[in-house]
Amino acid sequence: MTASETVGPPRGRVREALDYVLWAYTPFRPMSARDIYDLVSTNAFTARGLYLNLGYWKTARTIDQACEALAALVGNTAAMGGDDEVVDVGFGFADQDMLWMQLFAPRRITGLNVTPSQVRLARARVARLGLADRIELLEGSATAMPLADASCDIVTAVECAFHFDTRERFFAEAFRVLRPGGRLVLADVIRNAPEPGGFRRRVQEVTWAAFARTFAVPPANADRREGYAGKLRAAGFTDLRVDSIRALVFPGWHRAMGEDAALRRRLHLAGRLPYRLLLRLDANTVYSAFDYVLAVARKPA
Ligand SMILES: C[S@@+](CC[C@H](N)C(=O)[O-])C[C@H]1O[C@@H](n2cnc3c(N)ncnc32)[C@H](O)[C@@H]1O
Repeated sequence: MTASETVGPPRGRVREALDYVLWAYTPFRPMSARDIYDLVSTNAFTARGLYLNLGYWKTARTIDQACEALAALVGNTAAMGGDDEVVDVGFGFADQDMLWMQLFAPRRITGLNVTPSQVRLARARVARLGLADRIELLEGSATAMPLADASCDIVTAVECAFHFDTRERFFAEAFRVLRPGGRLVLADVIRNAPEPGGFRRRVQEVTWAAFARTFAVPPANADRREGYAGKLRAAGFTDLRVDSIRALVFPGWHRAMGEDAALRRRLHLAGRLPYRLLLRLDANTVYSAFDYVLAVARKPA
């Protein structure tokens, strides 16, 4: 990260630490997704870019490769190509959009993000690469897109739709802005199927509730796989696939957290502390509450 890759005046370490503790460990500071990403700021866990996802670990060996691999997977699943106009919601710092331009060269990408500090820095990064005429980054919500009906070919959401209020509203918006035949592709965190046995199921419930509170996940988004597909269908989409890729996400992330000391150091201390305990457990136990899906759906032609 360069000195220019900051999102505003420094907050002061004590103030920042206090904000993290209040957010992550107390019920006194419920935060919106926008507040959370303002707080996290550029403390991304990648070494090179500013991705904020857990990564796709099929062949990746480092967090940087895994985050890029997740973005590439979404682009490939969407069959992104030179004729496509793409709307990418929840773009973080636009790493995925710059990667897609390099890999697939779509005609245009319009990004939408609710976090103004991310939008500002992402615009500067895109301009530095000379891509400002191909990647337009807007401040706005995935649930109320400032875009015309039937104005794009692909809508993407990389590890962000669990925040949207609600995911269902986003599906309706995606359907509206897509042209007939257009594709929606998401990498998304949802609830896992319930475990047999009272204790393990209770652990799943408590873990999901803690995740939802900490990461501003509306109750309506506590979907499992069948419910998720049902909502896509109800929005009008066809040719659905909602595939679990959890085995290629959580274990790789968990292993990297255990083995990569530099990755751990890049997390804020307050985020790093719980891992002292969590890393003693296996990934299946730690992430038993969560499924991670790659979802693809089409607006009928
Ligand atoms: C976990 S980060 C993922 C960022 C990026 N996709 C990546 O993989 O690095 C979630 C992103 O969703 C954005 N976000 C949250 N709620 C949103 C909403 N309603 N509309 C648009 N973006 C939203 C946040 O600002 C943040 O950029």
